Amino acid sequence: MHLDIGNALAGIARPGVSRDSLDRLDDCVARAHERIERGVEEREFGYAALALPETTAAAEIERAVAPLADSEAVLTVGIGGSALGAATVSAALGRGDADAYVLDNVDPRRANELLAALPLSETAVHVVSRSGTTAETLANFLVVREAMADAGVDWTERTVVTTGEDGPLRALADEHGLPALDVPEGVPGRFSVLSSVGLVPAAIQGHDLDGLLAGGRAGMDALAPSLYECPAYGYGAACHALEVRGATTNVLMPYAERLEYFAEWFAQLWAESLGKDGLGQTPVRALGATDQHSQLQLYRAGRRDKHVTLVRPRERPERAIPETGIEGLSYLGGSDLGTLLDAEFEATEASLAAAGLPNVRIEIDALDAESLGRLLYDAEAACVLAGELMGVSTFTQPAVEWGKRAARGLLGGGDFEEAEAVAGKERLV
Ligand code: PA5
Repeated sequence: MHLDIGNALAGIARPGVSRDSLDRLDDCVARAHERIERGVEEREFGYAALALPETTAAAEIERAVAPLADSEAVLTVGIGGSALGAATVSAALGRGDADAYVLDNVDPRRANELLAALPLSETAVHVVSRSGTTAETLANFLVVREAMADAGVDWTERTVVTTGEDGPLRALADEHGLPALDVPEGVPGRFSVLSSVGLVPAAIQGHDLDGLLAGGRAGMDALAPSLYECPAYGYGAACHALEVRGATTNVLMPYAERLEYFAEWFAQLWAESLGKDGLGQTPVRALGATDQHSQLQLYRAGRRDKHVTLVRPRERPERAIPETGIEGLSYLGGSDLGTLLDAEFEATEASLAAAGLPNVRIEIDALDAESLGRLLYDAEAACVLAGELMGVSTFTQPAVEWGKRAARGLLGGGDFEEAEAVAGKERLV
């Protein structure tokens, strides 16, 4: 990952972080790095995620999915960290040998439409839940399983499970003899993309798991006790410094359609990990160049509470723009869509900088497995570093758990006091 934080630095008429204050922050980065290194080495809860490039066995995942290798489609049934990583990898690397779908929400219309469209007898189903108890995931799986059975498909032959050591999903897998992979010990959902949680669909699609993990390993090797020497920490430190100076919103704007899901994954990582104790940037998903024609107005001229993170691959496929003699259009002819998209990227970056809006540039070499693995790893390391600098509990999600318990309680799935709070809500009308 290549990082440029030049436009996040304070300049004449541009608020941002001064070089002096970054130098001072670098002492804290060095201390945080020590803490992170220790956590990774000892595989402490959460920090263990930053060891995944070394601990994930690609061959084991590939072995587990081998019977499903001829699938036309792969459906991930999971939610949050148990779905977004897989969706991000599949979207970024493309179709490969199978179409990838995700069923995370419990909107009946979406479930009906998806199940009607999928070639069920050729579909591999990956059911993922770390806890094995998440209502949305288990309900969706029961629905998918029934739809397969109704279509005369032996769902036990087409399903692979990834879950924790015990819980209802593990019990279900055992009961039906389903292939079951483990969610690695000490790895929270949103940090699990480089494990079986995020990689099973990619394996079924024939993507290069070794490449993804090699990219992660490069990120791991690049961790260093200075924000100037480690792009991941440079990004995490810059975001933290900008937040302290009022940039409470972080707009992540990839200039590549295949990275649109990455922005969604990043939003979860950032929000669920850092939104604690009244702190944390609000992540916003955007897409270049599309959102230049809408949201950019706000980013450039609206409330001064944001910074923008622009992301792009350095390599793009070719698609020439045909020559034209039409007046006013001839400048486009003979150029390329990728060249135009890059020009849009640079124009946005310059326009934000000129308006005094801090922005950060992240580039990856190409949209391939290795660069993607590195990008995902570096984003996680940036998040962990930011959490250390902020002093928050990066790896927990009490607010999310509250909602899960409340929903289960309301549905009669247990005695949860959170459900009483919902039931006791005062209603005005
Ligand atoms: O990051 C997290 O911890 C959450 O987003 C979880 O991944 C999400 O709530 C799903 O949980 P589970 O994997 O237990 O079904």
